Amino acid sequence: MKAIILAAGMGTRLRPLTHTRPKPTIRVAGRPIIHYAVENIVAAGIREIGVVVSPATRDDVQASLNGYAGVDIEYILQEKPQGLAHALSTARDWLADSPFVMYLGDNLFENGIVPFVEKFNADNPQALVALAAVKDPRQFGVAVVQDGRIVRLVEKPQDPPSNLAVAGIYVFTDAIHEVVAGLEPSGRGEYEITDAIQGLIGRGARVEGLTVEGWWKDTGKAEDLLDANRLLLSGIEPQVAGQVLDSRLVGRVVVEDGAVVRESTIIGPALIAAGSLVENAFVGPFTAIGPKAEVRDSEVEYSIVADRAVIKDVATRLQECVIGVGARVESRRGLPRAHRLVLGDESRVEIG
Ligand code: DAU
Repeated sequence: MKAIILAAGMGTRLRPLTHTRPKPTIRVAGRPIIHYAVENIVAAGIREIGVVVSPATRDDVQASLNGYAGVDIEYILQEKPQGLAHALSTARDWLADSPFVMYLGDNLFENGIVPFVEKFNADNPQALVALAAVKDPRQFGVAVVQDGRIVRLVEKPQDPPSNLAVAGIYVFTDAIHEVVAGLEPSGRGEYEITDAIQGLIGRGARVEGLTVEGWWKDTGKAEDLLDANRLLLSGIEPQVAGQVLDSRLVGRVVVEDGAVVRESTIIGPALIAAGSLVENAFVGPFTAIGPKAEVRDSEVEYSIVADRAVIKDVATRLQECVIGVGARVESRRGLPRAHRLVLGDESRVEIG
């Protein structure tokens, strides 16, 4: 079995973070989202992984996965992100006649993909789709299931026929390629994988659904990133490899090699990544401080602070923040007492 990870979209809902980098490369609990995908695929015994990238995402995705040992990664170019089925069609030659897992590169699963691969191998359907019951299914593909078989699938329906959302894992035989080749774009102009699977069902193929065990996150919005960060940090094992001086660490705290924590309090779960500096600061629960970031004379909790970001001299505690790579939040002493902001397009600032 092979696997493809889709990482060709730019994630418009996560702007401005995704103006400059693709969603799967954003760090959650210290690691790019796409690392969790690779890890879950490898844990299911799959060693051949194709990553679908676009000209806009290729370099960042490749840089994120560089040095990922023990897996054979093939990069497949999708010139324009024209839908999940279109992404799949770009990988057709590489997939050949192999059965495969299709994994959405911006999705996170607590318990990985082993149950899906096992059920697919045991039951031999033409397709198996991960499903999850959600409160508002309108932003997802939605499935109607009868006796374990999916009998209908619709993409982002206004009036959902069930509460079962399609989660971002699919397992297919090569039968899907022929249906994808005959697809027409949907109302929103995309080649939809839900339409392709509906096409399989129409041909009498057996399509099964399997409910995701544990949590599942489609990291569509900043709130989802923070929640995924919380969930993943909850499971970290405390470990101090960096330097901790005159500081108090409470609970599950990881201080990576090369990080410095000085005169600070850190309440876990929290991760202080390699090369970062935390000084005269408070880092509260569910916070990940990225590599080479700095938090000085400030307080931050329930937040993601990305690589090289700087938080300095901020008088009010920062909470529920996603601070992008190299971004700076600092106070300026003296007069005038004014906020001076340099914000990229679609940035969001809430001043308390
Ligand atoms: O997250 C689950 C949902 O994912 C499903 O319930 C929906 O049925 C499915 O269509 C999909 O909806 P999204 O609107 O969330 O898909 P999104 O455009 O965010 O793309 C998902 C991933 O696939 C993302 O990492 C980018 C990548 N992608 C997307 C497109 C449109 C590609 O690689 N190529 C593409 O052409």
